[in-house]
Amino acid sequence: MTPTPTRLMSALGCALALTLLPGLPAHAQNATSTAPAKKAQVVILATGGTIAGAGATAANSATYQAAKVPVDKLLASVPELGSLAQVRGEQVFQIASESFTNEHLVQLAKRVSALSKQADVDGIVITHGTDTLEETAFFLNLTVRTTKPIVVVGSMRPGTALSADGALNLYNAVATAASPTAVGKGVLVTMNDEINTGRDVTKAANIRPDAFKSPWGALGMVVEGQTHWFRAPAKRHTVNSEFDIDQIQALPQVDIAYGHGNASPVAYQALAASGAKALIHAGTGNGSVSKDVVPALRELRAKGVQVIRSSRIDGGGFVIRNAEQPDDQYDWVAAHDLNPQKARLLAALALTRTQDAKAIQRFFLEY
Ligand code: DGL
Repeated sequence: MTPTPTRLMSALGCALALTLLPGLPAHAQNATSTAPAKKAQVVILATGGTIAGAGATAANSATYQAAKVPVDKLLASVPELGSLAQVRGEQVFQIASESFTNEHLVQLAKRVSALSKQADVDGIVITHGTDTLEETAFFLNLTVRTTKPIVVVGSMRPGTALSADGALNLYNAVATAASPTAVGKGVLVTMNDEINTGRDVTKAANIRPDAFKSPWGALGMVVEGQTHWFRAPAKRHTVNSEFDIDQIQALPQVDIAYGHGNASPVAYQALAASGAKALIHAGTGNGSVSKDVVPALRELRAKGVQVIRSSRIDGGGFVIRNAEQPDDQYDWVAAHDLNPQKARLLAALALTRTQDAKAIQRFFLEY
């Protein structure tokens, strides 16, 4: 059938629109040509954790050794990755994530930042232990200035276990990192078929595949290699962040003390004496502080230590400034909805830019 001018024009128009559409990564640019679309190039940075773990028997879903399987064996165990993208791996660390330090975080973030600048990298996946996965994802979300997809992934069961979750989690992570739809969405976490933002997600259970939850809900799902989005991140991240890992060499010491009945000021005083430049109070309820602890925190604030009120309740609300404590009068900071472990990271980054508590408070409201 000879194409009528309108059909020809509309086809040309469509091809032109797609080829000129700004912001699409290279592997998505020639979507209308007859040549097969170029596969995305995805780098997998392996750091250890259960996704690289091994148990003695298939029944060992909770008793196993983390950080055993090297990245090449990890990739070889999921050959289906090759249908999603051109994948290559790097072994950055081989540790259980409860042992991540600030130095590990800075080193990993600098590697991610360097790779994100390479033309032969369209997306990055980081395999990671689940214990501190949310911290790494949040830190990358704050400090890596790229719109390219960065996806952090782990597993709750080792690959040797019955109904292991690591292979599909990794498949979903590569599918998301290779997808043009994930461009510009900040750092993502794919666990248990869900796509969560690194900013909100937290490990909410200690031995179940559905352990990762965001108090404000998932961004979407990835099913059979396809991403499905239902909302977008609301807070500043990546290219819209004031923090740049390329300009950061080390993080100031920030520590966390847990609030509870019969609390005493000793932990806060000891942490400050050890060099903490800010203290995160993992408070009861709305970041409440025991009357037996307030004087010590006020004294530490007067000596220049920042005091940041978070809550031991993770999810479903946020610490309200001047509610449980007169933050304006005490010159303290309210951590908003960030849990203590994430508040620690934002406070450390904030201290690379300011010593002013009111400026720090702005960071906690915007990131
Ligand atoms: N040791 C824990 C970690 O590396 C194992 C938990 C996991 O990776 O699921 O975070």
